[in-house]
Amino acid sequence: MRLESKKVIVTGGASGIGRAICKIFASEGASIVVADIDESGSQETLSQIETAGGKAIAVTTDVSSEDSVSKMIEESSSFLDGIDILVNDAAAFIFGKVEDVGYKDWETVFGVNVIGAANTVKHSLPYLKESTSPNIVNIASVSGFIAQPAFVPYNASKGALLQLTRCLAMDLSEFNIRVNAVCPGAIYTPATERHIAFENADRDEFLEKAGQDSFLKRVGRPEEVAYAALFLASDEASFITGSHLVVDGGATV
Ligand SMILES: NC(=O)c1ccc[n+]([C@@H]2O[C@H](COP(=O)([O-])OP(=O)(O)OC[C@H]3O[C@@H](n4cnc5c(N)ncnc54)[C@H](O)[C@@H]3O)[C@@H](O)[C@H]2O)c1
Repeated sequence: MRLESKKVIVTGGASGIGRAICKIFASEGASIVVADIDESGSQETLSQIETAGGKAIAVTTDVSSEDSVSKMIEESSSFLDGIDILVNDAAAFIFGKVEDVGYKDWETVFGVNVIGAANTVKHSLPYLKESTSPNIVNIASVSGFIAQPAFVPYNASKGALLQLTRCLAMDLSEFNIRVNAVCPGAIYTPATERHIAFENADRDEFLEKAGQDSFLKRVGRPEEVAYAALFLASDEASFITGSHLVVDGGATV
């Protein structure tokens, strides 16, 4: 029960890593708001939490819309009776070389991955300031600090999210709010399946190649990222802020 009685919002909780975070945080005693644009995926996460005996609600949210975020935070704070922990996991995956993408693509990827995180922080802030152990965990990526071929918009946005993490850690320190990031490497999720389809690749070959970069010669599981987020969100990480934890099996060492 490392998050006993904690009040937690997880954006992107309808799928993949976000769903694993919701389930593991709930199993550690937290009450959860699953905030995602995907209503049916959020309901599925909710039902998995409830089946396991956890407490949660789902609030359909578009993190790139400040209006939608402000309504979600209002509903969440009344269900949770406050907010202790915010996890920014929602992401838009826009790949390609610079000549492949247009202004709309840049707007989408920064709107969700960077401005979306800033929106949720801004509207959670009055509640986080009231918490006794407030913190924020941003799910960034190794893509935020390495170059990868034809990943320009996504990688640029994750680099910005890492910098947002550091700047928020400084500015919010006066309220004792810790802000950290997790940087996953290749993790097998529904986003991986979309990437395989985008590249028209053979699934097994794609996964084998994705795993080759890691010392452990495999891709990661969503739960392996969720446990890193759990550590940063818990009081065990009480002297850690402005930091990022890499979960990539050694791929970027
Ligand atoms: N899978 C990987 O290999 C990998 C690697 C590094 C980092 N990450 C990061 O981990 C996080 C989760 O990725 P995943 O692989 O689980 O992907 P996923 O596609 O399974 O989950 C992403 C979730 O974000 C939600 N979302 C998208 N746009 C939204 C919006 N505007 N408002 C609210 N919700 C929105 C989606 O509906 C989805 O449920 C992302 O931040 C991603 O960048 C993933």
